[in-house]
Amino acid sequence: QKQSDIYIKMDPTLPPAISVKIRGTSKCIGKRIKVQGWVDSKRQQGKNMIFVILRDGSGFLQCLLIGNQCLTPEALALSLESTVSIWGEVGYVKEGQSAPGGLEVVADYWELVGSSPSGGTEAIVNETSKVELQLDQRHLMLRTEPLANTFRLRSGITQCFREHYFAKGYVEVTPPTLVQTQVEGGSTLFKLNYFGQPAYLTQSSQLYLETVIPSLGDVFCISQSYRAEGSHTRRHLSEYTHIEGECPFVTFDELLDSLEDIIVDVAQRVMDSSFGKLLREVNPKFVVPKRPFKRITYADAIKYLREHDIKKDDDTYYEYGEDIPEKPERTMTDQIDSPVMLIRFPVNIKSFYMAKCADNPDETESVDVLLPGVGEVIGGSMRSSKYDELLEGFKREGIDPKPYYWYLDQRKFGTCPHGGYGLGLDRFLTWILGKFHIREVVLYPRLTDRCTP
Ligand code: 4AD
Repeated sequence: QKQSDIYIKMDPTLPPAISVKIRGTSKCIGKRIKVQGWVDSKRQQGKNMIFVILRDGSGFLQCLLIGNQCLTPEALALSLESTVSIWGEVGYVKEGQSAPGGLEVVADYWELVGSSPSGGTEAIVNETSKVELQLDQRHLMLRTEPLANTFRLRSGITQCFREHYFAKGYVEVTPPTLVQTQVEGGSTLFKLNYFGQPAYLTQSSQLYLETVIPSLGDVFCISQSYRAEGSHTRRHLSEYTHIEGECPFVTFDELLDSLEDIIVDVAQRVMDSSFGKLLREVNPKFVVPKRPFKRITYADAIKYLREHDIKKDDDTYYEYGEDIPEKPERTMTDQIDSPVMLIRFPVNIKSFYMAKCADNPDETESVDVLLPGVGEVIGGSMRSSKYDELLEGFKREGIDPKPYYWYLDQRKFGTCPHGGYGLGLDRFLTWILGKFHIREVVLYPRLTDRCTP
C-alpha cells in the first residue's frame, strides 16, 4: 500500500481517463485525462491548493492539486523535477488567470512516480553558473527551456537538410566511422587499436561517398566526424556532425552554386517550417542570406588581409601559400558581413584528393564557405579524377596508397569529373541560432579538455 492511499483514493465511478501528452490536452477540453511528466514549478496556496506546472517535453501544463491531495506525505515533500502522474478534467483557466496554453487540469487523483532532491536541479546548477559547472552538469542543464529549444531546433533543422536533399533526388547513405584511411591530414586523426590493427575515427565520409556515386548518383550522409584538433577555439569540436554531399559530373561552378543553394534553401525551409516561429524567438536578428555569395580567390583573400592590416600574431603579413587560420578568416568574414566563398586554394595547403585548376596547376578547385560570426562552415572541392594525379597527391602528402586501393579503383572503373563538400552542422547551427560558442548547440560537447558526461 502506498502512503498516499491513506489520504487519497482514485474514485472508481469516474469515467476512464485518456492518456495524453501535454501537446494534446487542448483537444480534450471537458474530458478526464491522465498526464505524466516532471514538476517544472510549484506554487502552494494555503494548505489545500498546489499549482504544479507539469513539463513532458511536448509542452507545459498547469495542474491543480486540491484538498487531501495536498496533504499526502508525497505532496508535502513534492520537489521540483519530481515525476508525477495526474488524473483530472482539462478546462480553460478562469478569466484573468494565466497558465501555459490557457489550460488547467483539476486533479481528481495523483501519484508520485519518482522523487527529486529538494530544490530540483536549480539548487545545483543554473544559467548563471560558471561554464565549466554547466558543462559538468550538462545532463541537468538540458532540462532548461533555452537548451530544450536549441535541441528542438537542431532536430527541425536537420530535418530541413534531409528535405533539401530528398527534394533534389539525393540518396542518403551511412558510411562507417571506424576506418583505416585518412582524408584531412594525419595530424588530426584519432588513432585506435582495432582488434590488433591500427584504425582511426573518421575525419570525413567523403571517400566512401565517392565510391557510391557510380550506382546511386548524387548522395549525402549525416554522420559523426572526429578531429584530434589541438585548436582551442569557439568553433572546434573533437566530435561533430558532418553533413556531406557528393555529385558526379558536376563542374566547379555548379558545385559552388549547389553550396550557395544548400545554405539559402535550408535556411528558407527552416523559416517556412513549423520551426520558423521558434527560430525567430531564439535569434530575432536572423535573415536568410541573399544569393549570389561573394566569391573571393585565396590569392585575393591574402591581398585583402594585407590591405586591411590583418596580421599574424608576430605582426607580419600572411604570405601567399600560407594557411589562413581561424582568427584572420573570422575578422575578414565579419568585416564583409555576408557569406563569402573562398576559392582556389594552393595545392600545398590542401588535401591529396583535390583537383587542380585547369589554368593553374598550383591551385585547386576548392572552396570554403564562410559565414559571419562563425567563419568556415563548408569545405568542398572537385576531386582528382585521374589515377596518376591522385597517386601524385598521395606521394606529395607522404601517404601510402595501398590502403586506398578501393578509392583508387574509382579512377580505374569509369572515372568522372565530380565534386562534393562537408558542412559542419554544429557550425551551421551556431550561425543560424546566433550563438557565440559551438558548444552551445551540441548535446554533450567533446572538447580538447572534455569527454564527459
Ligand atoms: O573542410 P573540412 O576538413 O573538409 C572535409 O572534411 C572534406 N573531406 C569534406 C568533403 O568534401 N566531403 O571539413 C568540412 C567542414 C568544415 O567546413 C567545418 O564546418 C566542419 O566540417 N569541421 C568542424 N566542425 C567542428 N569542429 C571541427 N573540429 C571541425 N572540423 C571541420
